[in-house]
Order: sequence, then C-alpha cells, then structure tokens
Amino acid sequence: MYEILKKEILAPNIYLMDIHAPRVAKSCYPGQFVIVKMDEKGERIPLTICDYNSEAGTVTIVFQALGNSTKRMAEYETGEGFRDFTGPLGCKSELVDEPIEELQKKNILFVAGGVGTAPVYPQVKYMKNLGIDVDCIIGARNKELIILEEEMKKVAENVYVATDDGSYGFKGNVNDCIKDLVNNQRKHYDLVIAIGPIIMMKFVCILTKELGIHTIVSMNPIMVDGTGMCGACRLTVGGQVKFACVDGPEFDGHLVDFDESMKRQQMYKTVEGRAILKEKEGATHKGGGCGCSDD
Ligand code: NAD
Ligand code: FES
Repeated sequence: MYEILKKEILAPNIYLMDIHAPRVAKSCYPGQFVIVKMDEKGERIPLTICDYNSEAGTVTIVFQALGNSTKRMAEYETGEGFRDFTGPLGCKSELVDEPIEELQKKNILFVAGGVGTAPVYPQVKYMKNLGIDVDCIIGARNKELIILEEEMKKVAENVYVATDDGSYGFKGNVNDCIKDLVNNQRKHYDLVIAIGPIIMMKFVCILTKELGIHTIVSMNPIMVDGTGMCGACRLTVGGQVKFACVDGPEFDGHLVDFDESMKRQQMYKTVEGRAILKEKEGATHKGGGCGCSDD
C-alpha cells in the first residue's frame, strides 16, 4: 500500500496529496507522471507529479476531482493508501538534459493554466536549484482557483497571476498576460513552457508562433496503460504518430495537432467513437487493453 501522508484542499475540487512511494521518489524528474490505482478493481488514473523528495521518499500529486474515480480518490484520507502507484512514467522534461550554460543564456517563461500549475512547479523548482531565474504566469478562471502561488513565488524570479474575471491579479487569460509582458513591459523570451488545458496550450502556441518563441507543451490525453501498448494517448506531432505516455508528455507545441487531439479525446470516450478511431487509424491505432477491439 502507498500511504497518504498528507492531504490538502488547494481550491474547490482540487486536492494535493503526499504519497509515501520511496522508489518512485528516488527516480523522478520534472515532466514525468504516475499512474494510480486505488484498489484491485480501480481505474488506472494518470496524474502529474507536483513535487518529490527522495530523502523523505514522498511524491506529491495534485488532482481535480471531476470523474467518478478522482471523486472517490478525493474521499481518501491521511493514513489510507493506494494499491498501485506506478512511475515515474514518460520522458523527463527536455530542460533536464540541456547543458546549464545553454539554459543560462535563455529567458524562460512558464505558463501554468489552472491545475496545470502543478506540473509546472517541479520544473520551475528544478531551474531554481540550478540557479536559473525564470518567469511564470499562473492563470485561472478566478481567484479561488489559483493554486500554488506562494510555492511558485519561492522558486520563480517573477510570478504573474492572471484571472479571466479579473478577481485577482491581471485581468484576462494567460495569452493576454503574455501579450502584456512582451508588448507593454518589453520582456523578451526565448522559450515558453505552457502546461494547462489543451485549449489554452493551443492558443498559447498560436501566439508564440507569431512572436517567434519556441514553445514546449505537456499533453495529457486519456491514458490507459501508460506504457505505449494500448494506443489511447495517440496524437500527431509534426505529421508523425506519437504516444504521449512514452514519447512525451512534452512536445514542441508548434508541431502538435491540437484540434485532432481534442476531437480524439471526445471520440475515445464512447464505444462508437473508439470503433471509428480504430477503423481510421488502422495499424497505427494499436490494440489490446483500450477497449477498442477484441484483440
Ligand atoms: P481552466 O479551464 O480554469 O483554465 C485555466 C486557464 O487557462 C484560464 O484561466 C486561462 O487563462 C487559460 N485559458 C483557457 N482557455 C484559454 C484560451 N482559449 N486561450 C488562452 N488561455 C486560455 O483550467 P482547469 O479547469 O484547471 O483545467 C482543467 C484541464 O486542464 C483539464 O482538462 C485537465 O485535463 C487539464 N490539465 C492538463 C495538464 C497537462 O499536463 N497539460 C495538467 C493538469 C490538468
Ligand atoms: Fe499511452 Fe496506452 S496510455 S499508449
């Protein structure tokens, strides 16, 4: 059992948990994720890693209680635990492999949307530990939904908070905030890392393409096995078929086909949709485990 050592409510329906998982904590890198299974019959839930402490053997997860499984997960209390806690999965952020001298030359802006602030945090913390100052925008629909602001302020050089309704910080979405920084405050960025809802990442990429800023996004499509076998997390990047769980989750945002990804997310939710995808995607769809086929 992977024990819950701490549980916190960060915002309505958004929960933080520290899980005792020493082996996972020892090998985590920013950008990776875990798959949690609550009990024998439980669904496999992919979750982004918000923080990890190899000495304490803990991994911090943040999740939104939206579906049946995450709502059930939110009912678990400190002292209880999960049956499986598999990870770290996926590739580490490309920043981890970049030489420090190269990173030092860059002005980096992180763009965190809603719950996507959780996977941004370990990356910003990693940069802070390397002695590299970065800027970070945290966007949410309103003040109540802003998470991890104080934590982010401890690791980023500048934190800009933006709310769609103007209830806190800059009034507008994250793109309005990027435009304000670049056009009005004359900030210059060489790299943007945007993590949040897919629609946000799509529009951030349209803007940064216009501005000529290389942009990395973290894709979190529906995942089933998390090991590249089932095909659930398929997406197209630069005209090539990729699987977010093994090839990502981070990709060059200017190459991601966001519209296809959003459409696929919807279709994957129904039996009919999965059958159409299987037909359309042919041999590259992959079978077994995703419920699309009897193979
Ligand atoms: P949200 O819907 O409240 O959006 C957060 C912010 O995104 C908004 O405040 C706004 O600033 C920005 N945004 C939204 N639409 C935009 C647009 N069209 N143009 C520019 N900016 C826009 O966020 P939420 O409710 O926290 O999001 C939940 C979603 O985030 C879920 O679908 C979840 O799957 C996804 N998510 C993604 C990741 C990831 O790794 N990419 C991680 C966690 C959650
Ligand atoms: Fe990626 Fe199954 S979740 S292939």
